[in-house]
Amino acid sequence: MGQILTALRPAKGALLVRVLKAYLVFAVAHMMAKTARFLLAQRKFKRATKHIPGGETDWTGKNLVANVNRFQEHSRDLVAPHIDSHLVKWEIPGFEIVFNSPEAVKFMLKDRFDVSTKPDPGEDELFVLLTRFIGASIFTLRHGEMNSEEHDRWYRQRKAAALIFTKSKFSNMMFDVFVRKAQSMIDVLTQVAKRNAAAGNPTDKNKGAEPVEMQEKFFAFTFDSIQQIFFGDDVDTVSGRDSDAAAVAFDGAHRAMTRYHLTTVPHISLLQCMPFPIGPLWYNMNWTSLGIRAFKAIHPLHQTFESHVEDLHRITREKIQRLRRDPKLAQRDDLIANFINHDASFRKSKRSGPTAGNGPSAEAIGWTDDELLAIVLNFIIAGRDTSACTLTWLFYELAINPEIQANLQRELDENLEGRTPTYEEVVHGLPYLNGCLFEALRLHPPVPQDVKVASKDMEFIDGTLLPAGVRMLYLPYVMGRDENRYSDALSFKPERWIPFTEPDPFAFPVFQAAYRSCLGRDMAKFEVKLLTAMLLQKLSFRLEANEDPNVICPSLAITMSLCNSPDQSTHELWLVPQLREDI
Ligand code: HEM
Repeated sequence: MGQILTALRPAKGALLVRVLKAYLVFAVAHMMAKTARFLLAQRKFKRATKHIPGGETDWTGKNLVANVNRFQEHSRDLVAPHIDSHLVKWEIPGFEIVFNSPEAVKFMLKDRFDVSTKPDPGEDELFVLLTRFIGASIFTLRHGEMNSEEHDRWYRQRKAAALIFTKSKFSNMMFDVFVRKAQSMIDVLTQVAKRNAAAGNPTDKNKGAEPVEMQEKFFAFTFDSIQQIFFGDDVDTVSGRDSDAAAVAFDGAHRAMTRYHLTTVPHISLLQCMPFPIGPLWYNMNWTSLGIRAFKAIHPLHQTFESHVEDLHRITREKIQRLRRDPKLAQRDDLIANFINHDASFRKSKRSGPTAGNGPSAEAIGWTDDELLAIVLNFIIAGRDTSACTLTWLFYELAINPEIQANLQRELDENLEGRTPTYEEVVHGLPYLNGCLFEALRLHPPVPQDVKVASKDMEFIDGTLLPAGVRMLYLPYVMGRDENRYSDALSFKPERWIPFTEPDPFAFPVFQAAYRSCLGRDMAKFEVKLLTAMLLQKLSFRLEANEDPNVICPSLAITMSLCNSPDQSTHELWLVPQLREDI
């Protein structure tokens, strides 16, 4: 036996050396193939974008990392000099083109909708993270002729979700929920305002006054509202009666994800070029991309992201189990019940819709727990964060522009005389309030940037060839601050929206446009206006004395919340609420 082992030992060593040599050859060939593919794509991109103004791509990502805490302003710096062009190149790593003019945005979102889709969650690192975070659902699913199976899933979810946004649901169920949640917020803030009045200092109202972290309150308000409207849960996190573990996990995951992504672009790009199994063979397979997996496992931001995602998924799965066990599910009218109950009616209908795919029929596909998890999380990011960001930035603007706040209060007093506005008044009356909302959306769009990917070569309206794989962005943040479109663009001027005409959605794509436009647009406008009208009839708001408007900036998150520290370590809007009669 011993003799046999001794005889085998050198043979084993030789085998190992041979395997290693073979791997080395494979690795070098793999990297060369990847480099060649990259260089070819780069050449194609350079040739295609030769006539497009803007900066060349900075593949080191140095400038991006240096400007990561002012990312939206950095984007504006890069695009603003070429604001008159349909298309702009910029230095952000990746084959990216900014679609700048309304015609260009229309081309991407409507005319070539079928081949301008979401990034591939198997390749695009942000979509890898996003899909891990909120799952594959309405927000992340790819549409279009090249993705027929996903297209059908997206379309089926859009149809089911649209059932909750009918006018009758607004004027009945949603109206009542928003009024009740707004009242809870008024009660909390009035307590603070009364304490401030009791300790009042008429000459210097802010000094020593008790502030409230309003961004957190607005996120709590929209969280409580959608928990009721979408999931039938009556929670009250605004007053602190109920815990908000899901919201904490959601925000923690969101912030860690975006910061991790933007600060690791160069590292991940490098690892992506490494040979299998360090780099990807197929990105989504567990046994490949070991280098990337190891990098993520030891990166503190990714660890934070993962731990929040695990909490969030556990809490949401428990919620889904409770929901499935509810004997009254068939009678319920909330979004998630609508989804489950809608299944039956969808199965009867034929597949249809813009550029419907040819994938397997949606028939016989019930919603799995994973799908419901993704639907819940997609609707939280869609419905809670965006409206809360709008409220935060609106109240920030009102706090730093006291004369505008006073004008708005005058409109509310004259029209409402202290009562809750009706549905019609919120939607069609109160033009100054509407102007304030649109200014907040213009200057601080909750989705400041959006990206699509060309799924095949296409010709742009000016003849430019856009190669397959190119990333096409539109930037509502930059478009909204363009002096050519809005005079005195950086000033908050509600009167520019009076009299009101609905802006062209391709020139003002804050809610996106065309076939994948925001489903919750009316709901968002409604809840923001209703809460603002109710709050400002009772209270006024000032920026807390220690807060500096020059430091306040957009966060890095996909939905643009507010930061109050230059390094983005704090996300707070500290305002002092004051009773109106006390002013
Ligand atoms: C001011 C608030 C809001 C803004 C600015 C906003 C903006 C947007 C944008 C830009 C998109 C397109 C995202 C993309 O495809 O990349 C979108 C999609 C969507 N939004 Fe909103 N949104 C807001 C509020 C809401 C609310 C309250 C809901 C309610 C749930 C909602 C539901 C959705 C849904 C379901 C989609 C996906 C549509 C699809 O892909 O077919 N949104 N929204």
